[in-house]
Amino acid sequence: MIILGIETSCDETAVCLLESRATETGIEYRVLGSLIHSQIDIHKEYGGVFPMMAKRAHAENLVPLLEKLITQSGIATKTVTEQLDEKILEQELVLKDKLLASSLITSQPKIDAIAVTYGPGLEPALWVGINFAQALGKLWRVPVYPENHMEGHIVSTLINENPTTTWNTIHTITYPALAVLLSGGHTELVAIEHLGNYRIVGRTRDDAVGEAFDKVARILGLAYPGGPEVSRRAAIARTTKLPHTIDLPRPMLHSKDLDFSFSGLKTAVLYLVKETSHNGEKELSENFINELCREFEDAACEVIEKKTRGALDASGVQTLIVGGGVIANTLLRTMFDRLANEYGISLYIPTQHLSGDNALMIALAGSLHVLRGEQPVPFTRALGNLRLDGGK
Ligand code: KG4
Ligand code: ZN
Repeated sequence: MIILGIETSCDETAVCLLESRATETGIEYRVLGSLIHSQIDIHKEYGGVFPMMAKRAHAENLVPLLEKLITQSGIATKTVTEQLDEKILEQELVLKDKLLASSLITSQPKIDAIAVTYGPGLEPALWVGINFAQALGKLWRVPVYPENHMEGHIVSTLINENPTTTWNTIHTITYPALAVLLSGGHTELVAIEHLGNYRIVGRTRDDAVGEAFDKVARILGLAYPGGPEVSRRAAIARTTKLPHTIDLPRPMLHSKDLDFSFSGLKTAVLYLVKETSHNGEKELSENFINELCREFEDAACEVIEKKTRGALDASGVQTLIVGGGVIANTLLRTMFDRLANEYGISLYIPTQHLSGDNALMIALAGSLHVLRGEQPVPFTRALGNLRLDGGK
């Protein structure tokens, strides 16, 4: 079975063609092609993602990206016999024009299904992907499966990556498992009974950890997205052994629950920066910025470690899964390695380039649903606050 994955929940436009088949022990897959168009250059100027700009960029990029993917992956194509249903795209004029002028309405790839992210994320951005998927699904007469972006991050940890198109198995993990999901919009601890059965046992009460990295970067005048830059500077502070003169809070470190809070940590950074500027320093020194980045990263990492320990102690799970864009962070990766060793449990983290948003994880989540015999939902709405456990 070949599935097309489409991801447009935030600032990456991504498409993937994934072939998969059921085996006695699970599933095998091969990646026929996977492309990501990052909008960082557009959003960098503003220090954050503007939903309507993200929407516009997805609408501009989806069609050429998919045409390129189909050509590059060498997948067989066949002639389209259906007419494009323009009503589906009446809210998507840019996308409609691009699609009408493209090869996608005359020649379709031989695929069996489409999987598209329908939440959580920025609703205007999600709608572009959903409308595109619905229009193609009808035009190409293939079912459309709505996928949860966070489940995508969970299954991204199962990918046994091999850059060639040979068949791969996904990791076979022992359940129950604990997933720690760390992204720009989410920070949550999820108890997994089995794939598809999720219970959120801890979550952030305000900012997500990636959002805190991004906001701290903005306060310090660093480039967007903030995570990689804050982390790079923190590493410089460690290798050059800058003395520790800054103390940031560790919010909710000792609370009895498994919840997080990162907004106070960001505010503490803001006050410290203001105070330092008031003390007569016109520009923050490089050392001050680097030390602050290290202290912020240490504080975030310490809280995440403590809460993960709490969840592991309470559940006795055998498997730890860590996903989401923030897990590109080296300090966190090292901490989770150490933790898994100490608890004697298996750890699954995606490779660095699959930790950020991509369509491979969406295509894989879709393949797992199709191979489990699930039926596609006939109409999909964008659900910005979609939760893994179905809660509000
Ligand atoms: O999962 P993701 O790609 O998009 C969302 O679903 O939100 O996560 C993006 C987040 C951003 O906040 C970005 O700053 C953060 O991941 N990030 C990092 C690192 N690389 C990306 N945070 C800390 N350290 C990094 N190396
Ligand atoms: Zn994400």
